[in-house]
Amino acid sequence: MSSKITIAIDGPAASGKTTVGEKLARQLGFLFFDTGIMYRAVTLAVLRSNLDPNAEIAVSELAGRVKIDVAPPGKDDGRLADVLLDGTDVTWDVRSREVEANVSIVSTYKGVRDAMTEQQRRIGARGNVVMVGRDIGTVVFPNADLKVFLEASAEERARRRYNELVNRGQAADYDQILASTRQRDEIDRNRVIAPLKPADDAVILDTDNVAIDDVVEAILSLMKERGLIERE
Ligand code: DC
Repeated sequence: MSSKITIAIDGPAASGKTTVGEKLARQLGFLFFDTGIMYRAVTLAVLRSNLDPNAEIAVSELAGRVKIDVAPPGKDDGRLADVLLDGTDVTWDVRSREVEANVSIVSTYKGVRDAMTEQQRRIGARGNVVMVGRDIGTVVFPNADLKVFLEASAEERARRRYNELVNRGQAADYDQILASTRQRDEIDRNRVIAPLKPADDAVILDTDNVAIDDVVEAILSLMKERGLIERE
């Protein structure tokens, strides 16, 4: 196995990136890094500072100042990692509806993206990492050893999100989730900087009606084909 392998997994909201990426990383013994968490943490910082998410300059300045860290889970409450914003645990706060409603707009700003991309490259450079997001294969690691783009219909993704909320005991409205999924897709795909799209050399996997384990297996097969891991 070569010494520093980078696997990039991109795709729209709730396409299964996090679940697939985390399982894959665990099987490989790689670091799992969900870059969406960083954009969410910046958005939370914006809301907590009572800044207007539409104020690009002020938001970008804040993004350059805050310190976001991801650490192994410190609590056994279903979290995959601890998310720290300036040293404070915000793991569940970054999943709030308010953050979700504002994260796409905050992620369109160049200043925010530059600050986050720099931090992501620094962490990814340690190697042997599965990094998930929207622009990992296109912008953050254009030389990744394998790029995967996960697709799923908006309806399927809204259903997954709905089930996730219900399982966590939270109120959920499917129609509202579907509408907000479509709205986030629209912003993520059409933004000027680093829009959500597959890299030219990405392998596109459709995950509608495909079990998580089968998606993980498909990625492991691709890694074997490329000689990134040994065939058994
Ligand atoms: O994957 P997620 O739902 O946690 O991502 C939250 C938002 O962050 C998403 O709407 C777009 C943004 N994002 C991004 O612009 N680039 C990334 N690499 C990851 C996420």
